[in-house]
Amino acid sequence: MNTQKISDRMKQSPLHQLFVEEIQDIYWAEKHLLKALPKMAEAATSTELRKAFEDHLDITQIHVERLERVFASLDEKAETKTCEALKGLIREADEIIDDTEEGTMVRDCGLILAAQKVEHYEIATYGTLRTLAAIMGHKEAQELLQATLDEEHSADVELTQVAMSFVNEEAMSER
Ligand SMILES: [Fe+2]
Repeated sequence: MNTQKISDRMKQSPLHQLFVEEIQDIYWAEKHLLKALPKMAEAATSTELRKAFEDHLDITQIHVERLERVFASLDEKAETKTCEALKGLIREADEIIDDTEEGTMVRDCGLILAAQKVEHYEIATYGTLRTLAAIMGHKEAQELLQATLDEEHSADVELTQVAMSFVNEEAMSER
């Protein structure tokens, strides 16, 4: 599984340490999302949005496993580091659930907003990590991170499609 040997010297470089810490951060975030997404799916009004969250839950499980492969490829233990940003974004999603009526499209609108903030955080993180992996020559990590980055992009597009197809418009006519 570990095709490249990472030298101790490289492991001690500040950039490598930053890289590993950021992987720990997104690893925490993905694991936290495994708990948050079922709640968001349950809160959704439309079956389309519920399904989008359920599908993303399955994909998130794959993202967690992929990160474990990234750790292994770097000869590092899979450890988490609390991601304060994602913690805050999930808190915002909870607030939206509290502040909107059950069974409304306004709630779906808010949930899509919250989920897209999460996606954009993930896209920024995976994009940077993929680039760092590339410049440091961690080919396997680079490919794994790119695969997840592509899936986060698709999830973001899917959420936009749900919003534009009917949620925003129906939300507008609610009183
Ligand atoms: Fe993810």
